[in-house]
Amino acid sequence: MPQLILTCDPDFNDLALDEFRRDSVYGAPVAELSPGIWLAECDDGFWGVAEKWLEQPPIFVRHLYPVDAAIGLTGTADDVAGLAAQVETEFAPALDPDLPYSVQSRILDSDLPYKPFDVNIALSGVLTQATGAAVDVRNPEQVLSVVCARLSAEDASRFAFGPDDRRQTTDGAERNTRFAFVGLSPTDLNLSDWAGGVRRFAREEGQISRAEFKLLEALEVFRIDLPPRGVALDLGAAPGGWTRVLRQREQFVTAVDPAELDPRLADDKAIRHKRMTAEEYLADEPDEFDLIVNDMRMDARDSARLMVAFAGQLYRHGLVLMTFKLPGSDRQKIITHATSILRQRYEILGARQLFHNRSEITLFLAKKG
Ligand SMILES: C[S@@+](CC[C@H](N)C(=O)[O-])C[C@H]1O[C@@H](n2cnc3c(N)ncnc32)[C@H](O)[C@@H]1O
Repeated sequence: MPQLILTCDPDFNDLALDEFRRDSVYGAPVAELSPGIWLAECDDGFWGVAEKWLEQPPIFVRHLYPVDAAIGLTGTADDVAGLAAQVETEFAPALDPDLPYSVQSRILDSDLPYKPFDVNIALSGVLTQATGAAVDVRNPEQVLSVVCARLSAEDASRFAFGPDDRRQTTDGAERNTRFAFVGLSPTDLNLSDWAGGVRRFAREEGQISRAEFKLLEALEVFRIDLPPRGVALDLGAAPGGWTRVLRQREQFVTAVDPAELDPRLADDKAIRHKRMTAEEYLADEPDEFDLIVNDMRMDARDSARLMVAFAGQLYRHGLVLMTFKLPGSDRQKIITHATSILRQRYEILGARQLFHNRSEITLFLAKKG
């Protein structure tokens, strides 16, 4: 059966694999190569499931790519040259020379004496030499993905190996359990432009909270352009990371939270801190807004009910970005219930577990006409 690599937050393995089973034909996991990184197989292969997810993305699977070749590794520094030679033979003919590409490698076995950078440089070197295609790591249109991993002996014995299998078959000899899983795919079908969906942002001077990364990632993933000099409401704003990001994008911000905002925000005249709960603010003749963001620490269903109550404070074109906190069990049930509440007043434009989400997901909503 065709194989692929799926990546998700390991705390949400169950929900990610449910999505894969639901949206593929006879999909099943083969082995967990590292927490949250799955070798899996399905009858309709990468292309079947990826095209379905292009239309309707999953929430929990962050990244996927096809396994077009499983190349045996020796575990020595010679692997890099060996991989490059094999990639040149097998993948150069498939690479579109007119489209920018990048090589994205992940090394999951810490005993291997090379780093992702070494693999990326060696493989892109031979591919560009052979095809003339340009490397563009920021905006690639096609990606050669590589995961180097060690399988457990049990998984390795169940795994269907290619002609490069270096396992010894005689009893007592060491079995090769290290492989590079390599695949070429259009970036659009990978669910993320980043290796394994790992989107890192540089820490900035003046950053208030790590939560800022969450909003930056959401604006990027959902391709949200904020209106120039728009008015935004930040529910659950303290200590003020999201408010700071919104200010950087020239929004006027009403920040609602009973807790204090970071003192560095105090002198900004374009921030109004309402030191109260969102419920109190709603009863306090609130304004109208272009955007409401909500990162309140609150049960997802209660938060959805509050957003329904706040729909009247959004302009007709208004948008919402919010998180659903999913701490314990019954997470799928909670998501289904909370989204059904939101649908009373909103269209759900996107729902994803972002790299910077911990025990939560992020939703992007538009007010219903
Ligand atoms: C995860 S923090 C928000 C972090 C913020 N997005 C940032 O970037 O700094 C959650 C906040 O929700 C606030 N909160 C919880 N219940 C609330 C309510 N009913 N109304 C307003 N804020 C609430 C808490 O006081 C807390 O500051």
